[in-house]
Formats: sequence, structure tokens, C-alpha cells
Amino acid sequence: MQNGFGSVILRGIGSYTPSRVLTNDELSAMVDTSDEWIRSRTGIRERRIAERDETTSDLATKAAREAIKEAGVDLAEIDLLIVATITPDMPFPSTACLVQSKLGLGRIPAFDIEAACSGFLYATEIATSMIKSGNYKTALVIGAEKLSSITDWEDRTTCVLFGDGAGAAILGRVETPDVGFIGNLMGADGKEAHLLNMPAGGSARQASQETVASGQHFLKMQGNHVFKSAVRVMSQCALEILERHNLSADDITIVIPHQANTRIIEALAGRLGIGMDRFKINLDRFGNTSAASIPIALDEAWRNGRIKSGDYVLLVAFGAGLTWAATLLKWP
Ligand code: UT7
Repeated sequence: MQNGFGSVILRGIGSYTPSRVLTNDELSAMVDTSDEWIRSRTGIRERRIAERDETTSDLATKAAREAIKEAGVDLAEIDLLIVATITPDMPFPSTACLVQSKLGLGRIPAFDIEAACSGFLYATEIATSMIKSGNYKTALVIGAEKLSSITDWEDRTTCVLFGDGAGAAILGRVETPDVGFIGNLMGADGKEAHLLNMPAGGSARQASQETVASGQHFLKMQGNHVFKSAVRVMSQCALEILERHNLSADDITIVIPHQANTRIIEALAGRLGIGMDRFKINLDRFGNTSAASIPIALDEAWRNGRIKSGDYVLLVAFGAGLTWAATLLKWP
């Protein structure tokens, strides 16, 4: 028993991605790039793009409905809602409050957390701890992004990488010990904040004609620096969580990594000594969807029958902040 309240398990998971597909060939007509460059440097073939009037809370709500259906829970059972996003509908109120209203949930606590691509793992750890406190029983945790709304479609170094989508999970308490969310570690290094950010629109650089004209409301990234940190930090935290739980790489049935770049995942696989066949990859179809990437991939892996009762599943993420996280699940 953990903290006297049993374990926290995933009762259901769901995802939603917009129907509009943006291919590498279409991008090649917009900026100086090619399908060959994008596929060989990133592994991405296409990504999904939301409609102009489709918001992050719309994507989140659709993913949440799938997870709620899958879990078979009544709306009234859900007593906590957390949304992880860096592309909220607006700076405030939180996207979680908008989702609460769209779903018709009760007057439960609803808040956003921002940890970029690590956001879903940060959010599930917060929900797990709140459930283990005994004060909450059933949490809806969502990772949702409309990254197309902060993408500079004239910057070839970033616009080929990102996509839109959402993934959602219902977390609940069971009395069975040592199943579900059995381990997590998280970290951040704010000294590297400048490597990946959106410079304007906050209190540091308020929106002005000048910030708009100079493109400061778009995502900026020093890709190769982020790449190196991603490989180092994701492998370190994955190895550390295995060690903490006395597990070896062979014990892990499947790794669900943040979907940023196939080359990052290949380097991670090499450092962990886990074959690529035990990694879930769907970035070829969705690109990098930041906080939505892990729940969308986990949902697919689960629906495709790649996870069975008793399996150890390792989730590992890395993103702006810089932030990172690893979560270990034992499937109930
Ligand atoms: O989700 C948060 C975490 N994010 C990530 O993990 C992203 C990590 N970074 C990456 O995935 C890679 O760094 C990128 C895919 C973004 C870039 O790949 P790279 O191998 O690191 O390329 P680079 O930035 O070192 O650029 C190499 C060359 C440059 O040209 P020069 O200076 O060598 O002439 C770039 O201008 O590739 C050029 N380039 C492109 N060429 C064609 C950059 N983007 C493109 C492009 N098409 N789209």
C-alpha cells in the first residue's frame, strides 16, 4: 500500500487529433525545405493542424470524452481536472476551466500546468499525489496543444516540427498495492530557458506592434542545443527511475518517449540498451505535439494491444524550461 490509499491507476485513456493533414511536400511549397530533409533529420512525414476556430480546449474536450467513455466513469465521479498546455486558449482563465464547462463537469478544481513537452508527466504526478493524499478519487488529466497557433510558418527550422492534438487520461484509486503509477521523477533547469521559448506576450515583453512585427509571438528554438540536452537528460532520468525501482531495461515492455525526433529516440534507445522495437513511435504521423505527445502515443499503444496486464511501461519526456520527467507504470 502506498500512503495508505492503495494505488493510482489509469482507468481510461483517449486522444483526438484534427483531421487536416499537413504533409512535408506542402511545407516544401511554403519554405525552403524538402520531404527528404524533414524525414531524414526528424522522422516526421506529416502532422495534424487544427481549424482556425478550433481551440486547445476544443481538442482537449474531444480527447477527454474518449477517455471518459473508455474508463466508463460518470461525469459526477470526476473530482479533479488538470490540463497541461503551452498553447492555452488565452493567458487566463485556464484552459482547464473552459474544458470543465464544455464537458459539463461539476464545480471541481480545474487548473493548467505549464511544463511544455514534459507537461503530461508533471500533471499526472500532481494528480497521483493529490489522489494519494486521500482528498480526491478520480482525476481527468489532459495534455493538449494547438502549436500551429504559435508556429512561424516562415521559419523552416521550426515550422516542420510541430502539430496539434490532445490526449487525456482518467486516473483513479484502487486498493491493489503496487500497480499503476508506481514511480515518477521530474526536473527542470531554468538556466536553459532561452533555448526554447515564445519571447513576447507575457510581462517581460508585452504585446505591441513591435513584438508582432518582429515575430516574437512565435515559438523560437535553438534546435541542436535542445537535441543534445534531450538525449542526455532523457537517458539519465530513464536510467535513474529504473535503478530506483530495481528494474533493468529488459523488464520494460514498452517505452513511450516524447515524440520530438526519431534520432533523439534512437540515441535514447542506444543508451538504455532497449531495442527500437520496444519504443512507441508515431511522430511520423503527428510531429511534435508537446504536452499531447505522450498521451496520444500511449493511447495508440494501448489500443493497438501493445500493453498487457502486468507490463512495465516507461514514459519519458523532455521540453522547454528546460524540463524533463520519467514515469513508471505497472499495467493493472
Ligand atoms: O519538444 C521539445 C524538444 N525539442 C526537440 O527535442 C527538438 C530537438 N532538435 C531537433 O530535433 C533538431 O535539432 C532539428 C530537427 C530541429 C534540427 O536538426 P539538426 O540536425 O540539429 O540541424 P541544425 O539545426 O544543426 O541545422 C543543420 C542545417 C542548417 O543549415 P547550415 O547552417 O548547415 O547551412 C539549417 O539551416 O539544416 C538547415 N535546416 C534545414 N534545411 C532544410 C534547418 N531546418 C531545415 C529545414 N529544411 N526544415
